Amino acid sequence: MSSKMSGRLLYLWLVSVLLSLGKAADSSAKPNIIIILIDDMGMNDVSFHGSNQILTPNIDALAYNGVLLNKHYVPNLCTPSRATLLTGKYPIHTGMQHWVIITDEPWSLPQRERLMPELFREAGYATHLVGKWHLGFWRKDLTPTMRGFDHHFGYYNGYIDYYDHQVRMLDRNYTAGLDFRRDLEPCPEANGTYATEAFTSEAKRIIEQHDKTKPLFMVLSHLAVHTGNEDDPMQAPPEEVAKFAHIKDPKRRTYAGMISSLDKSVAQTMRALKDNGMLNNSIVLLYSDNGAPTVGIHSNAGSNYPYRGQKESPWEGGIRSAGALWSPLLKERGYVSNQAIHAIDWLPTLAGAAGITLPQELQLDGINLWPALSGNEEPKPRSFIHALDEIFGYSSYMRDTLKYVNGSTFEGQYDHWLGELESNEDDPLSDNYGQQVLSSDVHSILGDRGLTEAHILQMRSEATQECPVLAGEDPQDPKYKCEPLKEHCFFDLAKDPCERYNLAQLYPAQLEELAQEVEQFRRTAIPTARVPITDYRADPVFHNGNWEWWNDTDTGSGAGTCSLKLWIIMGSIIGLICSISF
Ligand SMILES: *[C@@H]1O[C@H](CO)[C@@H](O)[C@H](O)[C@H]1NC(C)=O
Ligand SMILES: *[C@@H]1O[C@H](CO)[C@@H](O)[C@H](O)[C@H]1NC(C)=O
Ligand SMILES: *[C@@H]1O[C@H](CO)[C@@H](O)[C@H](O)[C@H]1NC(C)=O
Ligand SMILES: *[C@@H]1O[C@H](CO)[C@@H](O)[C@H](O)[C@H]1NC(C)=O
Ligand SMILES: *[C@@H]1O[C@H](CO)[C@@H](O)[C@H](O)[C@H]1NC(C)=O
Repeated sequence: MSSKMSGRLLYLWLVSVLLSLGKAADSSAKPNIIIILIDDMGMNDVSFHGSNQILTPNIDALAYNGVLLNKHYVPNLCTPSRATLLTGKYPIHTGMQHWVIITDEPWSLPQRERLMPELFREAGYATHLVGKWHLGFWRKDLTPTMRGFDHHFGYYNGYIDYYDHQVRMLDRNYTAGLDFRRDLEPCPEANGTYATEAFTSEAKRIIEQHDKTKPLFMVLSHLAVHTGNEDDPMQAPPEEVAKFAHIKDPKRRTYAGMISSLDKSVAQTMRALKDNGMLNNSIVLLYSDNGAPTVGIHSNAGSNYPYRGQKESPWEGGIRSAGALWSPLLKERGYVSNQAIHAIDWLPTLAGAAGITLPQELQLDGINLWPALSGNEEPKPRSFIHALDEIFGYSSYMRDTLKYVNGSTFEGQYDHWLGELESNEDDPLSDNYGQQVLSSDVHSILGDRGLTEAHILQMRSEATQECPVLAGEDPQDPKYKCEPLKEHCFFDLAKDPCERYNLAQLYPAQLEELAQEVEQFRRTAIPTARVPITDYRADPVFHNGNWEWWNDTDTGSGAGTCSLKLWIIMGSIIGLICSISF
């Protein structure tokens, strides 16, 4: 009996060892995933879309050595865009479709949603968020380390001061508060370090100290190039700004300094991956969360030109995002992708690349485009609901190349072609553009595949947008005029990417079809999760000068303020209460 028993035990033991070995080997082979998320940068603010004004040789080298995402779509605003990345769903399906989470508003990305870091952690990944969150923090259990990230270094709100990392809410008489943390603890030590540099150092530290037996999942979510606080919005290191003497407008010049610092950061991050032997099994995705706000709220002088509109508008300027994907795991590299791809697609696409099977019940809106991108396949037609906001009363929709717009934002103030650059402000170095890219740090790190100057210029011209004249017709002709606050409009982006020719009068039946399709989406929308401010308890004056959760199930202050002294005095009683309540 005993030999039979021990034989069975041995068998079970062997099986479990083999299973766990298989699992470990499997997860260590999974690719590292690094998402570099830029805030509020315009399509025309990287040089790979053709601008010679602000050169971004490192970012461009990532695109030319990888896949230049030429039709990359995103929601038109920070909170919805980030919610979409992490859930793989449209904002109308998570309740995040209306507005952003304002500092003192008690709402968040609903907890019923399972987030990308949680799903990757379950698949064996170490998960890190560096930088911006902006998906709610009014309760502690809504903050990043409670929602799938092992570690967070950064801030909870939409923006902070680039140097002292405070949020000053000028429209209320709140005390200025620090919004900078290492996990749950306030982190005043970084005071004085330019945010882009602080986040880059942290990303490097994470890469260096990463346990290489596990795959890494890191979202490096920059403050740049969002504005800082309203009393000092444009902040960049003076030595970076000094590189842009050719730009006359001081605001745009400072913006260029912010971009330049970011471009350096991309090089440093790629260098760290290389130096730590991780690059050859990494996927790096870089993109801007939405178009630049050229004018209006938090305007940063960014440019989406020649696309129409800007951040927080229904137009291409708000929803097309500069993006690049690089990985040695891509079969095809060094090409411009015209596959329409949306932020909803990144969760299934990256999971697909990593061989992670996602649970069916997630009900994602996105699809896995990894095979299409990796194989440079013929672009598939896609339909996207770009915006559907009952409160602002507007919608923006695309079926393949047909674009539908009804209603607008801010009384139509952003409905124009904004941010055209001065023609005589080229960077003198742009005469040698190809050489700038080939001599960049990122190219020296990645460029082992014989990328030539001619190929760079070819890709760049494919990714440079012109605004064609449609059928010899004048776009000023009144029959093409679109006034979305009065009547819905539609455009054919294949022929009219700049949305100059409204075809509503010419093809009313097509317009009606598109309106019906929007109606279908409207039926699937859930109400906005937004809760306007209810009281003033968020004021940092109540939280030791920090922005911190203000509604909690414990004593009313978070565990971060469960100070050491209190622990010593109250000892295990508080410990017990805290552990019961979390
Ligand atoms: C602002 O200050 C006034 C006067 O001190 C006070 O009555 C009011 O409640 C404060 N408002 C807010 C939003 O804290
Ligand atoms: C940051 O440092 C500056 C300069 O030393 C100091 O004046 C300021 O009070 C500090 N801010 C915070 C939030 O600690
Ligand atoms: C990546 O490089 C490291 C260190 O150079 C090496 O040990 C590893 O086998 C390489 N992995 C792949 C997938 O090529
Ligand atoms: C267009 O928007 C207006 C204003 O929000 C709305 O009343 C109307 O129903 C919309 N039309 C369609 C076809 O969706
Ligand atoms: C926390 O929020 C809940 C839900 O909104 C509310 O019912 C409760 O009164 C709040 N508690 C505190 C201490 O603010």
